[in-house]
Amino acid sequence: MTTALVRTRVATEDDVAAVLALHERCSAQTLEQRFHAAVPGISLRLARRLVLPPGGWSIVAEQCGQVVGHGCAGRLSDTGVEVGLLVDDAFQGSGIGSRLMRDLAQGAAERGFGSLVCEVEPDNESVLPTVRKAGLDPQTRYVDGVLEIVVPLGRVADCDQQTA
Ligand SMILES: CC(C)(COP(=O)(O)OP(=O)(O)OC[C@H]1O[C@@H](n2cnc3c(N)ncnc32)[C@H](O)[C@@H]1OP(=O)(O)O)[C@@H](O)C(=O)NCCC(=O)NCCS
Repeated sequence: MTTALVRTRVATEDDVAAVLALHERCSAQTLEQRFHAAVPGISLRLARRLVLPPGGWSIVAEQCGQVVGHGCAGRLSDTGVEVGLLVDDAFQGSGIGSRLMRDLAQGAAERGFGSLVCEVEPDNESVLPTVRKAGLDPQTRYVDGVLEIVVPLGRVADCDQQTA
């Protein structure tokens, strides 16, 4: 599979139902990795909050009109955002997660944030390579048993200026 057919864009209220449907299609393991707990699914209210996080934004990845991935950036402070990623099980491993991560990092740098953070269960081996594949330079540390991946965004902004 190739991501050439995949389009990413900033999500709007109109995407809430499709993002809910994406979560409903995902496996229990994928949802657990996303939310750090076993969850049977998410509510419409939570789907809306993930699509339109307070003080943040989110991005959908679409293929043939279907939302197959979602990346969410919630404001942590004036300088930092927390990022969450979810890719449909059937589409994982095809470059969508790293593309969402790259878009979120670029969007965060454009909005003036200095860093993004992603909290990951220690046995989740998919996120760090996803961040690296996005061209980012992560720093890691364990906080209360959770792997915290921090990406300083200065270099993202620098790269953009160099390629502008
Ligand atoms: C994490 C996630 C978003 C990655 O999305 P994806 O579309 O599969 O990622 P990509 O296809 O862009 O792959 C990125 C890199 O990660 C690697 N990777 C993916 N899953 C992996 C795994 N289980 N173990 C090791 N490496 C893995 C890929 O091989 C790729 O690196 P490569 O090209 O050098 O081989 C997706 O696996 C997912 O939705 N996981 C469940 C939710 C989650 O863990 N969210 C993060 C916490 S908020």
